[in-house]
Amino acid sequence: MNIVLLGAPGAGKGTQALRMEERYKLRHISTGDIFRQHMRRQTEVGNLARSYIKKGQLVPDDVTFKIVASALEEAGNENFLLDGFPRNTNQAAMLDGLVKIDKAINIDVDMSVLTDRICGRRSCIECGYTAHVSTLSDSVCPKCGCEMVQRMDDREDTVRDRLRVYEEQTAPLIEYYRARGVLVNVNGMGSPEEVFAEIGKVLG
Ligand code: AP5
Ligand code: MG
Repeated sequence: MNIVLLGAPGAGKGTQALRMEERYKLRHISTGDIFRQHMRRQTEVGNLARSYIKKGQLVPDDVTFKIVASALEEAGNENFLLDGFPRNTNQAAMLDGLVKIDKAINIDVDMSVLTDRICGRRSCIECGYTAHVSTLSDSVCPKCGCEMVQRMDDREDTVRDRLRVYEEQTAPLIEYYRARGVLVNVNGMGSPEEVFAEIGKVLG
């Protein structure tokens, strides 16, 4: 089964994707994570992506689509889980031209909790593990021991722009996938374990 994870910034896509990857043996493809790897390595794609990400804007579709096409090629016959892609109807149409999407799982959360979740998030520079700052006793990753830092686009003014971009460009994908009969809404307001249990009901 090939899955798209939808949800606003901070809805918990990455948190659930890590669990789903392990439980359902899916290849997790996060465009945000791929861009962050490029930024760390200071590649051409990374330098271009940085100029958009730091403003909370989407990286241009042609650049984004190239990295997704190459990640899907690498996945081969493995089932995949797309996290953060597609993000507008143009990207969704491009994806439809390439592969069949069996389910689009929309993690539904109240907009009111998102700013705190995102601004409080710390991410491991090495393995990508994320956690809210209130659950960490220091800045060391509980999974791999490397440093946990705040993402450059997790500051409050950038978060406002990301949420606006989400409303304008990404939220319409809920209707896009509903019209194709593959949309499933999951309540994302519970604990990460409760949300994962909801996803389990959908995926079995
Ligand atoms: P991306 O990395 O995809 O970020 P995002 O979609 O904005 O979403 P986040 O990663 O911020 O949130 P999440 O839903 O993964 O939540 P998480 O699980 O971490 O994209 C970043 C940027 O890259 C974009 O702005 C854009 O510029 C560019 N980009 C990426 N893809 C692109 C594309 N397709 N096209 C163009 N540009 C693209 O959780 C958040 C926090 O909440 C954490 O602290 C976590 O611990 C906590 N939390 C999670 N679940 C719960 C819960 N159930 N209860 C309480 N706290 C929770
Ligand atoms: Mg994420």
